[in-house]
Order: sequence, then C-alpha cells, then structure tokens
Amino acid sequence: MRLSAALHTETAQKPKTAIVMLNMGGPQTVDEVGAYLHRIMTDRDMIQLPVQSRLGPWIASRRTDEVKKKYMEIGGGSPILKWTNLQGSMLTKALDQMLPESAPHKHYVAFRYVPPFTDETFEQLEKDGIERAVIFSQYPQYSCATTGSSLNAIADFYRKRQIPQNIKFSMIERWPTHPLLAKVFTERIKEKLEKFDSSLRNDVLIMFTAHSLPLKAVSRGDTYPHEVAATVAATMNELKLPNPHRLVWQSKVGPLPWLQPYTDDAIKAYSKQGRKHLILVPIAFVNEHIETLHELDIEYCEELAHEAGVIQIERASAPNDHPIFIAALADVVAKHLTNGPRVSKQFLSRCPHCVSERCKSSKEFFRKLCSQSSLKDQTYA
Ligand code: FES
Repeated sequence: MRLSAALHTETAQKPKTAIVMLNMGGPQTVDEVGAYLHRIMTDRDMIQLPVQSRLGPWIASRRTDEVKKKYMEIGGGSPILKWTNLQGSMLTKALDQMLPESAPHKHYVAFRYVPPFTDETFEQLEKDGIERAVIFSQYPQYSCATTGSSLNAIADFYRKRQIPQNIKFSMIERWPTHPLLAKVFTERIKEKLEKFDSSLRNDVLIMFTAHSLPLKAVSRGDTYPHEVAATVAATMNELKLPNPHRLVWQSKVGPLPWLQPYTDDAIKAYSKQGRKHLILVPIAFVNEHIETLHELDIEYCEELAHEAGVIQIERASAPNDHPIFIAALADVVAKHLTNGPRVSKQFLSRCPHCVSERCKSSKEFFRKLCSQSSLKDQTYA
C-alpha cells in the first residue's frame, strides 16, 4: 500500500515540460568574480577584441578587484539566481493551472557565465526524463551578443553529444512588446512617480535605460536597439501620461564607440538644461543585478546626480516577482506551447552583415533541433 502510494507520488511529480530560463547570470560570491569576467571577456559572441585569447583574460584580471568591490557594496553577490529561481517557480505554478495537458512544468536555469551552466542544465533535463523543453530567453529584447550567445552555448553542447530523441524542443528568443511586460514597467514607473510632489509629477522626465551595444554590432544589423525602443514605445503607450521620455544607454566597456547617449552623460546634460526631476527605468533587465543595484542606484542616483545638481531622481524597480510580470511570463509560454512556432523565422534569419560561421551553424542547428518530433506521443504543439 505504502509502496504504491510512494510510486504514485513520484509519477505525479515527474516533470513533463521543462522551461529553460536563459540569462547571463552573475557571481554569487566575490570569489566567482574573476572567473565570471574571464568567461565574458573571452566570449566572442559577447565582445570581440583583437587577440582575444590573450587580451580578454588580461582585461578580466585587471578589472577583477574593482568589480569585486562593487559586488561587496551590493551585499557580496548577484541576486540574479535568486530572482530567476523565484520567477521560475511562480511561472511553472501558473502554467500547471493554465495547461494541465503539459503539466507538471519544471523550470531550469541555464546561465552563460556562472553556474548553473548550459551543459549541466541540459544534462539534468535528460536525466529527469523531460518530454518537452521550451528554451526561454530572459532577455525580452534579442541581441546576438546576449540571447544569441546563450543559444550558441546550447548548440556547442549538442555538437559534442547525441541530441536526445525523446525530448521535443522549442524556443522563445524574444518578447519585447508583450502587453503585460509593458504593463509591469508602467506599474514600476507609477510606484516611483508617487514619490514626487504632485505639482511637478507630470513633468518628471522618464529616462529608459538599457545596456549599450558596440556600434559595430548595431551596424551589423543586431535587432536589439529597435526591440528595446519597441518596449519603450509599448510602455509609454500603456502609461498614458504626458511625461516626456528618452531612451539612453548604459554600461559601455572599452574605448570603441557604443550606442549613445550614455545614461550618465544624459543625467548631467538634463540637469544643465534645468530638468532636475528624473526617473531611471531599466527597460532591458527583468531582475535586479549589478547594473541596477550598483551602476544606477549608487553611481548615478547617489553620486552623479548629486554632483550634477539633480533635485530628485528615483529608479524604477526591475519587474522581479511582480504578479503582472509572472502573468507576462506565463502568457508568453502558454501561447508558445499552444500555438508555437517552435522556432521563429525571425530567429532563423541572420543580421545582414553577419559573417560569423558560428551564427550560421547555430541557426541551422536550431532549425533541426526544433523541427524534430519526440518519440513520445505529443498531444500539444
Ligand atoms: Fe547577428 Fe550573426 S551577428 S546573426
């Protein structure tokens, strides 16, 4: 009796559908900072340097102490894993309710630069006997440097081993204009607008800020700038307020030209123009991490804004565990599981000036991976 009850529970809990959440990840402790920077600086999908195999590690080691100090100042490590796991648990709980035919759903995390890495996560999928796997980018706006890099890591993993025949794969590589994503950003903006005196609330300048991109990548045809702009437009449309707004770019690295205006320069310039009430809205991050907690909160809001004579500056929270954001994630995945496509034509097309054989072979790999049927009988798309 007891044995059959135990077996029943085990069967009931065996996950059927995996939601694999891709992100760059961040060091959990300061001891991981050196290896994390080394992996970023040697990833040619993320950044291209001359003699990268030597220059990349050299830059990483030169920056390690400074970056360690920043992580110490935000509590000793990145909260990305904590937020991603919480979002994943809430998402799969919602999916179990919405789509009993593909339940139980289980979330997995695949980070690019810190554990849990792509390899160990995809090995775990196979061990768990998953039937259906949705590869789900946690960057709402696609860039060949971010989501593209994570997808290339999956293609690399399967180059070295047999593709499991019993898992049906598909991917969601972008979702920049989902209405609930725009809605959660408007909620986060309104939370901060409340902090301003009502007499000047409509004049607060809303400064959307996103990680910048080298101009070389923009000229190659990377879709990230226009997808970020699309999220901004959807958010302002949903906000229905008369406030002025701009899109600015942060976190530039190295001497080459990147997409501008830079967030710090824009804060200073607006203060000079007499615009001294601002909200910063991180529009391309779905959870808090070093660029929000240190760069925006400490370097810009506490230090730079004060020096520049800004009177009041607030920073909108990332979506994190806001219920509207969890509803957005659930809706994106549920629609995908129900209607597909398993891989989008947009993903399969390359940037007009892409010359990377790696991109070419990776797209070909996903075309095949996402078109094969699993051996199991499938009752949903
Ligand atoms: Fe964009 Fe290759 S760089 S597809």
